[in-house]
Amino acid sequence: MEKRTIKDYKKISVKPENIVEMVDFDILFGRSAPVEIEVGSGKGTFLLEEAKAFSEKNFFGIEWANKYYKLAVDRMGRWGMPNVRLMRTDAASFIAERIADASISVFHLYFPDPWPKKRHNKRRFFCDKNLTQLLRILTPDGIINIATDHADYFEQMTEVAERAVKQGLVKEIDFIRPAGASDGELVGTNYERKYMKEGRKTYTLALQKL
Ligand SMILES: C[S@@+](CC[C@H](N)C(=O)[O-])C[C@H]1O[C@@H](n2cnc3c(N)ncnc32)[C@H](O)[C@@H]1O
Repeated sequence: MEKRTIKDYKKISVKPENIVEMVDFDILFGRSAPVEIEVGSGKGTFLLEEAKAFSEKNFFGIEWANKYYKLAVDRMGRWGMPNVRLMRTDAASFIAERIADASISVFHLYFPDPWPKKRHNKRRFFCDKNLTQLLRILTPDGIINIATDHADYFEQMTEVAERAVKQGLVKEIDFIRPAGASDGELVGTNYERKYMKEGRKTYTLALQKL
């Protein structure tokens, strides 16, 4: 079978080296609209369906793995998605250094790498330090929507969330099922589909900034 060429679509792929100060999302998307971020966007399944369903919103995906990032750029380009931008970088440092206060309406984190070995737990994205950053970039009432298949990571997520609840920073709300979730799915991403076939449970958590 002939291999399809993966194309870079310059309007969609945003190079981190071109962002020297805080990201100006109005310039990046060519319009002013609420911005949602997904960290670990993989092949872009969630972003594609969500961006199709909510054309009035802007979606920014951050993905570390070059292979998936390129596939997602190609996919969004072929669909001609005007409201999606993607970047290949480490989300934690990019968010901390380049995203302005109160500029993001929803933050999505689906099936983040679980780093199962005890000594690697500190690499997990959802931790106190990153939550502080997420709350900084969220607009008032902004939402964090999370799913994982990993019970131990979910326990850590719950502990991080509980500390923030106790500090009066967030409240827990119902998880919002993304537009691309089919019957029986909670999220509708590639990893959820893969894990469902393996009979693994999906845990969800949603928080609203206070
Ligand atoms: C298990 S996959 C899940 C992909 C997708 N969200 C899904 O549910 O199908 C986790 C993804 O997060 C990406 N990732 C992990 N750490 C990251 C980081 N610090 N910044 C950006 N992406 C990251 C990985 O490269 C990987 O593609």
